Amino acid sequence: MNTNILFATETGLSQEVAETIASYLVACGLRKCCVRSMDTVSIDQWELLSPLVVVCSTTGQGDPPATMRASWEHLKMSDCPDLPNLQFAVFGLGDSTYPKYNYMGKMLHNRLRQLGGVSLVHRGLGDEQDAGGVWEGLEAFLKSLVVALRLSNEQFTSTALAPPVLKFRSIIEDPSSFRAPFIPYPIKTTTFTIASRKQLTSSDHFQNICHIEFERFGFDTSTVVTLHSAEDDTGISFAPAAFLSSKINLVELLVRFFDLESCASRSLFHCLKAFCNDDEERERLEELASTSVQTDYLAYCYREKRNALEVLSEFPHCAIPFDYFLSQLKPMRPRMYSLSSSPSADKLNCAITVAHLQFSTPYGRARSGLCSRWLCAAAAGDKFEGFVSQSPSRLSLEKAQPLILVGPGTGIAPMRSIIREAAALHWKAPIYLFVGCRAPGRDYLYESEWIELQKEIKLTVVTAFSRFEGKKTYVQHRIVESGTAEALASLIADGGSILICGNSKQMPRDVERAFTSVVQHFICGGSESDAVRYVNECKRDGRYITDTWS
Ligand SMILES: Cc1cc2nc3c(=O)[nH]c(=O)nc-3n(C[C@H](O)[C@H](O)[C@H](O)COP(=O)(O)OP(=O)(O)OC[C@H]3O[C@@H](n4cnc5c(N)ncnc54)[C@H](O)[C@@H]3O)c2cc1C
Ligand SMILES: Cc1cc2nc3c(=O)[nH]c(=O)nc-3n(C[C@H](O)[C@H](O)[C@H](O)COP(=O)(O)O)c2cc1C
Repeated sequence: MNTNILFATETGLSQEVAETIASYLVACGLRKCCVRSMDTVSIDQWELLSPLVVVCSTTGQGDPPATMRASWEHLKMSDCPDLPNLQFAVFGLGDSTYPKYNYMGKMLHNRLRQLGGVSLVHRGLGDEQDAGGVWEGLEAFLKSLVVALRLSNEQFTSTALAPPVLKFRSIIEDPSSFRAPFIPYPIKTTTFTIASRKQLTSSDHFQNICHIEFERFGFDTSTVVTLHSAEDDTGISFAPAAFLSSKINLVELLVRFFDLESCASRSLFHCLKAFCNDDEERERLEELASTSVQTDYLAYCYREKRNALEVLSEFPHCAIPFDYFLSQLKPMRPRMYSLSSSPSADKLNCAITVAHLQFSTPYGRARSGLCSRWLCAAAAGDKFEGFVSQSPSRLSLEKAQPLILVGPGTGIAPMRSIIREAAALHWKAPIYLFVGCRAPGRDYLYESEWIELQKEIKLTVVTAFSRFEGKKTYVQHRIVESGTAEALASLIADGGSILICGNSKQMPRDVERAFTSVVQHFICGGSESDAVRYVNECKRDGRYITDTWS
């Protein structure tokens, strides 16, 4: 039996999940499983791909991701052809801190059923907020899918492997045959040259946060710079990200196109098992590859952010051929950084504000983010390859409109852009800015700039320090404080807009609760249900926007 998988992704994770599903199904006895990007297959071909597994994420505020936009436009049309011969299964990727959680996965599932398609299994949902990320939700989905496709989980212990999708020798001999494994890259990327980098945090602060300026070539306020890959110390000039135009050596190929520091995929364990000549190691690999003992993989690999090279060194009895190993590496994914400069005020350079991601795993291993590390160590003249894209969550800015900006941590970046733009354009409308950090003098970003800007526009800055003078104050606490709450309610009632940016963990929910409380007490006469409805209406009207990242 054959089956097909279509993935729809913005930042690459759905592709990785799709490939994991494919290798799992092949290991369970499926003869062939083809993985393709959704928009490369027209809707009238979908029935031919049946049984079809669709893996799709949600972006923006419940919007379809980059590789699904054309398909979704077609599927939504009233004259979209029926699909009675389509057997399908949908797995959605999302983040439950967003108001429209897994919206596209749910919508797609419903729409395919409306068109007469037959759902093989209940739709699966993966949530970034789960301790094991989206992988946690995948387990139950895979189990029911295997049953629906009449495969056998028991066969999983077999060593059936799909052939490697990448062949190093062919890439070396014919570079033009190579396509970057991550599909949604624009073919044309741009080289960004660093003009300057300045550390914003004090030297005794635990985290390095930098203001980085690039030589500028015209962006608008809500533009997000997507950086993909860095030029390394030896000064190699990068070719366009999507393909190769000249010969490449092994190191270049690995560093430019693969994320060697990301956590190893589960399918790597399955692949290693097939080439392992030691019983104990094989048994352990089986546990790590299996979906029925998912917690093993999560604890050993996902939470430890253990990468493919580390895994290889811990299983020395696996003689995996290089093409199989290469095909199991995770492709380099784009990292997005909001612009913190304004087009009108910063004519020479554009800027981003980057926090170097550093954390300790549950077993105390120090880990560091790849792109933020490169950026926070970069020097003037260093080059980064990337492309410019519009932020999916655009706040439409009008001069007369009051603004409430909540930007703890690096969430300050888009706020700085908006405020500098407002000052350059001499806005009259009031702006409230909520800044959240640990302590003044340590990580209070752009403090002196706010003082200057307050002389030019009606800017009120409210600070929330979480490690200062023995108190833990967060932005949500400051929003509901007496005096501030009344002022915010009046701005909201006057048609003001709210923008919340920064960490996606707990903050957006707490802030929404705080705003709902403000609306309840000062706009809706104490009614909680009216306040919830009011905030939801603001969201619908594009006046309450959350743009957060993990
Ligand atoms: C729209 C948007 C705008 C953004 N704007 C900014 C911005 O202005 N400034 C900014 O600094 N960042 C911003 N980001 C985040 C940025 O894109 C990167 O995600 C961030 O810099 C980390 O990338 P990295 O390459 O350093 O880390 P990576 O090498 O990609 O590592 C990150 C991965 O590490 C893992 N991880 C992280 N923390 C832990 C932990 N505690 N335990 C276990 N695993 C963990 C997670 O799997 C995570 O995906 C934005 C993101 C989006 C989507
Ligand atoms: C800018 C942005 C907007 C997002 N919007 C939503 C959303 O509205 N609903 C949701 O459930 N998840 C949302 N997410 C979370 C993604 O769907 C989730 O991170 C997913 O794993 C990404 O998969 P991908 O890499 O295949 O695109 C958003 C993520 C980002 C970065």
